[in-house]
Amino acid sequence: MIRELILKNRSYRRFYQETTIDLETLKELVDLARCSASAANRQPLKYILSCGPEKNALVFQHLAFAASLKDWSGPAEGERPSAYIIVLGDTEISKSFGVDPGIAAQSILLGAVDRGLGGCMLGAIQRDGLRKALDIPERYEILLVIALGKPGETVVLETVSPDGNTTYWRDKDSVHHVPKRSLDDIIIG
Ligand SMILES: Cc1cc2nc3c(=O)[nH]c(=O)nc-3n(C[C@H](O)[C@H](O)[C@H](O)COP(=O)(O)O)c2cc1C
Repeated sequence: MIRELILKNRSYRRFYQETTIDLETLKELVDLARCSASAANRQPLKYILSCGPEKNALVFQHLAFAASLKDWSGPAEGERPSAYIIVLGDTEISKSFGVDPGIAAQSILLGAVDRGLGGCMLGAIQRDGLRKALDIPERYEILLVIALGKPGETVVLETVSPDGNTTYWRDKDSVHHVPKRSLDDIIIG
């Protein structure tokens, strides 16, 4: 079951935007992050939730989707995420956040997939602009944005070809392909 969930948990970047996600669902997802591991149990992560059209539009304009797809400038109106969770680091609790945001984001995304949703972690963020747009105090470092929605695209895993190229691509039918290294390549001892 966990394997199925992880295989289904792809980075989705096109959604059925009209399928809304309510605040309660976002809170349930953050609760999964809250219960996850944290270095020294410091729990320095804080969250901003967005699921309404105006706030979503503000968040969206500060994100960069799929930089490797050179001929695609991100999801068009109608296929954009329905909600976002912004992962912040509270510098009054800790000065560095290590792998905590990754663990939290994975918990959130697995929870989303379990609910028939999907999403994408985004690190390519215009941080200054987003901070201004949402009036985020300097105390909080902007670590990640998690885009969420009902996936509107098919994503399939591939094996990395012998040339070692890991760049993802989209085919003529708009299916998104993600090459993964083989087990033999990553277990080195
Ligand atoms: C820390 C992190 C930051 C990422 N930032 C972005 C991003 O800014 N924009 C984006 O479109 N995808 C982003 N991704 C998604 C990756 O591109 C994606 O995980 C990769 O292509 C593999 O696809 P998969 O998640 O379906 O396995 C990020 C993923 C991680 C883990």
